[in-house]
Amino acid sequence: MPFRTLDTADLAGKRALVRVDFNVPVDGGKITDDTRLRAALPTIHYLSTKGAKVILLAHFDRPKGKVVPEMSLAFVAEPLGKLLEQEVAFASDCVGPEAAKVVNGLENGGVALLENVRFHAGEEKNDPDFAKALAANGDLYVDDAFSAAHRAHASTEGLAKILPAYPGLAMQRELEALDSALGNPRKPVLGIVGGSKVSTKLDLLNNLVAKLDRLAIGGGMANTFLYAQGHDVGGSLCEKDLADTARQIMATAEKSGCELLLPIDVVVAKKVAPGVDAETRELSEVQPDDLILDAGPKSAQRLIEAMESSNTLIWNGPLGVFEVPPFDEATVSAAKHAAKLAKGGKIVAVAGGGDTVAALNHAGVSGDFTFVSTAGGAFLEWMEGKTLPGVAALEI
Ligand code: 3PG
Repeated sequence: MPFRTLDTADLAGKRALVRVDFNVPVDGGKITDDTRLRAALPTIHYLSTKGAKVILLAHFDRPKGKVVPEMSLAFVAEPLGKLLEQEVAFASDCVGPEAAKVVNGLENGGVALLENVRFHAGEEKNDPDFAKALAANGDLYVDDAFSAAHRAHASTEGLAKILPAYPGLAMQRELEALDSALGNPRKPVLGIVGGSKVSTKLDLLNNLVAKLDRLAIGGGMANTFLYAQGHDVGGSLCEKDLADTARQIMATAEKSGCELLLPIDVVVAKKVAPGVDAETRELSEVQPDDLILDAGPKSAQRLIEAMESSNTLIWNGPLGVFEVPPFDEATVSAAKHAAKLAKGGKIVAVAGGGDTVAALNHAGVSGDFTFVSTAGGAFLEWMEGKTLPGVAALEI
């Protein structure tokens, strides 16, 4: 990969400015999921063990360039210290004398967390002067925040132009996994795209039908495609005004030799509620008051067969309303099969995006996938084929 790697860096006694993503879910002041803290641990450990002073930069929420006390990062220092088994100093500003005082007080191997970079307007504006003020506390820059790499901000992009820049270990692993799924994959490549709306995933669908060998479409967005093909979708979620767009995507797929797998049978109910009466229907049998809430068993089986004859799987979005059983069946059976193939080394299986991670956790198989990205917007933009500024800035 065209990046420097940390094993080539001179670290002893150096100040490493590390961009992490600590934009964690919080309820009543408590972190409800510390995945993002844990993701940063290997890089922090590595740098600290090599004798660097580790200075963490992060954003939390969207304070829009102003100091918003409820969006302070102070609450993260203690849980992070517990995970690291090491004290984490906190600076009440990320630039200026407050930051310098804390950074200058660090021993080699010490760790400090600086206050929310988004408290300064220069962060989101990618203001070179603000980037310089951040850089004053570092000798090198390490970006370990793939999930913020779709933002061209001072701490995700600007700093890489000022200091020698390296991807952190989590970032490096993420980039390698993504490259093996879409950049330089073992073919045939199967994609699964689900979720409720076509309108939010247009760029994604257009990019994938031009690149993949097969693409399965599921979730509410599949209804728009079925409708565009002339099927009755009853009272289901369906973006009827996007029927032409769906037809264009189908035409592009055909031209570029991408086989589209739309549901061939569906699971319907009269309302979305746990344990409600659900029925499996052929596409021609959907009633006016039916809601399509999952792909049917024949569709799930065909998807499993497509996995069997693929070498790579890339997955974003559930196939049905998986949060409300029994409409989780297609998603769970597909996830379990993909996990089995990945675990047996038969397929490279990469998945990402908020809903997708929740669906794979629901199926109990996240750990068996080759890689599961916890990035939301950044993962989608990468799947859309867009250049992520935070990644491009690290290239040499
Ligand atoms: C995220 O939570 O997806 C990242 O931290 C990016 O946050 P943002 O959408 O506020 O830039």
